[in-house]
Amino acid sequence: MDCKAFVEGQVSEIRKTVGQGTAINALSGGVDSSLVTVLGHRALGERLKTVFIDNDLMREGEPQRVVKTFADMGIPVELVDAKDEFLGALAGLTDPEEKRQAITDTFYSKVFGRLVKQSGAKFLLHGTILTDIEETVAGIKRQHNILSQLGIDTSKAYGYAVVEPLKTLRKDDVRAVCKFLGLPAAVTDRIPFPGPALAARIVGEVTHERLATVRKATAIVEEELAETGAFQYLAVLLNDRATGIRNNQREFGQIIVVRCIESTDARQATATELPWSKLNRICQRITTEIPDVNRCLYDLTPKPPATVEYI
Ligand code: XMP
Repeated sequence: MDCKAFVEGQVSEIRKTVGQGTAINALSGGVDSSLVTVLGHRALGERLKTVFIDNDLMREGEPQRVVKTFADMGIPVELVDAKDEFLGALAGLTDPEEKRQAITDTFYSKVFGRLVKQSGAKFLLHGTILTDIEETVAGIKRQHNILSQLGIDTSKAYGYAVVEPLKTLRKDDVRAVCKFLGLPAAVTDRIPFPGPALAARIVGEVTHERLATVRKATAIVEEELAETGAFQYLAVLLNDRATGIRNNQREFGQIIVVRCIESTDARQATATELPWSKLNRICQRITTEIPDVNRCLYDLTPKPPATVEYI
């Protein structure tokens, strides 16, 4: 694809659409919202307000890391602390779909909705890509950002228009444009990370303590597997316990699952054949560095029948 023509075309299109008004967008650190942020900033400068909503479900140091990556590019991002609202909405929920819905509702109806109103922006920039639209229209997956394609007029319903500069691109095009713009590898080569973030990797209730456990395990897995070149790697906290023995004491500890997959588009996947020594090292670190975890399992299941994430 012609990245230069795409960038110039979208920058001028965003300028034309927004006119003298202001726009807002939410940055997650993923490749799509990162590209929208850069394009929007080129088009509008200070008339684009970019927020990063800290929902407490992110990886170790992630909110600060994303804000810094953009600050280094001269793009200010406002970090919004919404940790209590998200954990409050998730309290007591164990059903996977209820958990996902609670996160979507808290994001759109509460936190981001409030920020859009406060900002007075009449335009919301969103990183919808072609695959999101196709999957939603086909009824495979309801992406929370797809509204106009479902016949919803956001200006009438919510008082703002949604601008989707990436809606003709697929993921590999998005990466190509990011590379063309010279965005750092931290953005361009980031492994896939789900919208519900670490909540997708906690079976059962999401609490502050359980998040801390899966966050530590995630950091270990990402550190140990970064060099493998695998498509995606992650840690999951199960909602079960198992007997173990530590310092001659019997304990009933928690269980972490490690998942590492090969895939091209996440629609199908197989478990990576990791060296035994690597698996042993991960197991040893997880069961000694994380309090209360006394078992570590490696998931061999392909997709299908398993999915990549656990909820
Ligand atoms: P599953 O678990 O459905 O995941 O096999 C397939 C790929 O999609 C990612 N994933 C998501 N990405 N929002 C996203 O943006 C989501 O709600 C979501 N759920 C799963 C997952 O990490 C994998 O790469």
